[in-house]
Amino acid sequence: MIGVFDSGIGGLTLLHSLMRLMPHENYIYYADLDHVPYSYRSRDEIRELVEEAVLFLIEKGCDVVVLACNTATNVAVEYLRDKYEFPIVAIQPAVKVAADHSEDHNRILTCATPVTLSSERYLKLVKSLNIENRLDNLPLPKLVEFAEKGEFEGVLVEKYLLDEIGKKVTHEHHFIVLGCTHFTFYERLIESLFPKLTALDGNEGTARQVQRVLSELKPLKESGSGLVNFYESGRKAKDISKYAKLLAMLRLSS
Ligand code: DGL
Repeated sequence: MIGVFDSGIGGLTLLHSLMRLMPHENYIYYADLDHVPYSYRSRDEIRELVEEAVLFLIEKGCDVVVLACNTATNVAVEYLRDKYEFPIVAIQPAVKVAADHSEDHNRILTCATPVTLSSERYLKLVKSLNIENRLDNLPLPKLVEFAEKGEFEGVLVEKYLLDEIGKKVTHEHHFIVLGCTHFTFYERLIESLFPKLTALDGNEGTARQVQRVLSELKPLKESGSGLVNFYESGRKAKDISKYAKLLAMLRLSS
């Protein structure tokens, strides 16, 4: 069983990629709805919340836990890997993909939460790729709030994206890295508002990494329709229709 964690609904975008790649596996999706958005919380608090959720998923019998939340990764993954033995796969902003596919004169724009963009882990990653002088960072914390309210289109969302991304983007930008799993819900909208930009996220790469890790632990299931159980801050979700609708929306747009 695969445990997928996010502060809210954002990790559904990675769950969607996982289910496409491994449709026969069983999943638990854990949304920390009592505490989303994480952006306005301290790093210590985020670390505690992530640890609690991850231990919950392990207790439920997950073989591997996926941090489907860039913010959680950047604040907590090293701490968790040092402390526990179980396998943890963690998403991170796809800046390496952007760097590998762009020329030295192209600029890269990364959108993420302020916590991710100022984290030591992310800054180290950027440094290791040697792209500091052609990278622009843009925090979009309000986009997490729009997503949690179920606002995926409309004047307010468009205005926010046009204003914020518009402030940063130049003709030198080809890639926009969606470094927060909530932002993948807006991939098509962003590309339609900024037709010269190609959006990238870490979902496919992370899903493939989960597949590798799981297949080293046990044979992958080859038949049967996998189940997904949904939990919200440690409680079984009473109404799963919201999750079903969002997954259907992702299926339609992919
Ligand atoms: N989906 C989380 C991420 O990938 C959102 C963080 C939040 O709760 O603000 O960073």
